[in-house]
Amino acid sequence: MDVILRADGVDLFYGTEQAVSSADFTLKRGEVAAIMGSSGSGKSSLLYCLAGVLPPTNGTVTFDGVQLSALPDGELSALRRTRLGFVFQYGELLPELTVEENAALPLRLAGISKTHAHAVAAQVLGRLGMSELLRRRTSKLSGGQSQRVAVARALVHRPDVVFADEPTGALDSANATAVLEEFLRLARRQKTAVVIVTHDADVAARADTQYTMSDGVLAQRVAV
Ligand SMILES: Nc1ncnc2c1ncn2[C@@H]1O[C@H](COP(=O)(O)OP(=O)(O)OP(=O)(O)O)[C@@H](O)[C@H]1O
Ligand SMILES: [Mg+2]
Repeated sequence: MDVILRADGVDLFYGTEQAVSSADFTLKRGEVAAIMGSSGSGKSSLLYCLAGVLPPTNGTVTFDGVQLSALPDGELSALRRTRLGFVFQYGELLPELTVEENAALPLRLAGISKTHAHAVAAQVLGRLGMSELLRRRTSKLSGGQSQRVAVARALVHRPDVVFADEPTGALDSANATAVLEEFLRLARRQKTAVVIVTHDADVAARADTQYTMSDGVLAQRVAV
């Protein structure tokens, strides 16, 4: 079994509030996992732990054999920049940059030339229906357009694992399908593993594995 990511006994506390409780999780290369659960159940918090955005209070997260919390800050951020992708729930784009500049950012940070980085970004953005808006500043986008730029930015550098926090929440069904197809395409073609938090049962149904989160507790849904 080719495991790319695993979590063992992960707890996350914000002060005295426990958001994640003893989470165990395993993800194989190319696997698409969906996590569902009601608002406040701890989905974003779990994703932050899995992606090395927040250190777990207890437990460990291991990416490709390396325990994230054992890495010095600089190495952790380099790993996140090069091998992981993250679509934040609220986009987190740089408003002063254009659509293509935002999407190309991971490649530019990796030292790729502007011409090549923008060409790759434009390709991914095109598959997400954003070709007409490449030069627009992201401060002037709708919520759903911003969301698609955030998806493109998380994928351009072909990460080993992409974490997506409700990436289709602001999208109509055609665009939601385009985003989902892009994740599935990368998973099949490049063995990118995907962890997607979603409230959409149709999105979750297309994942290889499904989980539910309830009061900080993660459980795998077994097909019946
Ligand atoms: N920065 C924070 N400080 C304190 N408590 C927090 C913080 N962020 C989240 N929480 C709490 O942790 C719990 C889990 O929050 P989280 O954002 O992980 O839920 P979620 O499942 O992603 O919800 P949603 O579906 O609304 O995005 C909630 O009770 C929330 O109030
Ligand atoms: Mg959330």
